[in-house]
Amino acid sequence: MLRSKRILLGVTGGIAAYKTTFLTRLLIKAGAEVRIVMTESAGHFVSPLTLATLSKNPVMRDFVREEDGELDWNNHVELGLWADLMIIAPATANTLSKMASGTCDNLLMACYMSAKCPVFFAPAMDLDMFRHPATRTAIEALEGFGNVLIPAASGELASGLEGEGRMAEPEAILEQVTAWLESRLPWRGRKVLITAGPTYEPIDPVRFIGNHSSGTMGFELAREAANRGAEVVLVTGPSTLTMDHPGVTCLRVQTAREMLEAAQAHFSSAHVVIAAAAVSDYRPAEVAPEKIKKTEEALQLKLVRNPDIIHTLSQAKSGQYLVGFALETEKELEHAQAKLNRKGLDAIVLNSLRDPGAGFGGQTNKITFIDKNSEIKPFPLKSKAETACDILDEIHLRIGH
Ligand code: C5P
Repeated sequence: MLRSKRILLGVTGGIAAYKTTFLTRLLIKAGAEVRIVMTESAGHFVSPLTLATLSKNPVMRDFVREEDGELDWNNHVELGLWADLMIIAPATANTLSKMASGTCDNLLMACYMSAKCPVFFAPAMDLDMFRHPATRTAIEALEGFGNVLIPAASGELASGLEGEGRMAEPEAILEQVTAWLESRLPWRGRKVLITAGPTYEPIDPVRFIGNHSSGTMGFELAREAANRGAEVVLVTGPSTLTMDHPGVTCLRVQTAREMLEAAQAHFSSAHVVIAAAAVSDYRPAEVAPEKIKKTEEALQLKLVRNPDIIHTLSQAKSGQYLVGFALETEKELEHAQAKLNRKGLDAIVLNSLRDPGAGFGGQTNKITFIDKNSEIKPFPLKSKAETACDILDEIHLRIGH
């Protein structure tokens, strides 16, 4: 769950701060990328050098830092956006109160207030501080903000008192963060097959018929489906894009026939199939064994039809939800709906080449989602990553949980 996750760990000034060395180690071992922001007083309890070494990143303590004699600043807005999740452990009474009231007087608080990701907080303090109505009120307020409480444990406290207020153990923090993330993966248990990119149909050993598809839309769909917990097989034609998401198995092919074969191998176990590839409709009837020399004025290539991948898959359909793409230049809706029916799809994503910013190559797309019941939903121009979210939301609405 935590592999490749970017975690911003906020450490505040309580004795439990020493435990964050173990927490950092566990997060790193789980494959997360960890950056640490400490309050000034946290530095009295745990060495920034230890945490920097364990997290493999410099620890940030102030808005301003000195690098090679130059002053630079730790950009809290960037850090807030960078993080996939933020964990504040230990969260002292002081920091809880600041979080609840929005008192933004240090780098950690500025990061907290800038963070758009889920925020977990693990209170740690002495018994009476923990029982104080101000602390209770702060915790309730934070939960009201949607922050996630990692409850304090009971036991012996650093003061010698017994009771509630001990920070949850690092293993328990890791367990609770992981369980929370898992419970919020609406596509968990779902298998998704996605085709992406162009296909290259060889003419001879050095030439091919291809197209300008970059594969971006299919890769974004794969990444987002995996972010939602799905097990994704991405079958891609030649694309310069890389896929390092642990939830995505990326199979690279060249031709339409190879793409069909790879897709067929994963079709029966898939719940959702999205055909985002720009497949070449034709291929040379024969591939010349050697490079074709220019000898004549005109050269004729005989082309034959390639299999239609999504159509072929739809004929073996056994409950899969099939989504295709339609790139149209005129009578867009009519053509897209005809394509949906002809190919046996459940839905089709239309992009019109008449819309600036839509379709091939770029980082944006403007789509209309059309389902087999003729429900038509247009979306504004968005990044392809956001478009992937919209498409998956529409599919999710139609296939339920
Ligand atoms: O027929 P057209 O190529 O316009 O249809 C586009 C849709 O069909 C896309 O979803 C594309 O991935 C899919 N397709 C396919 N196999 C082909 C051609 C298109 O799966 N040979």
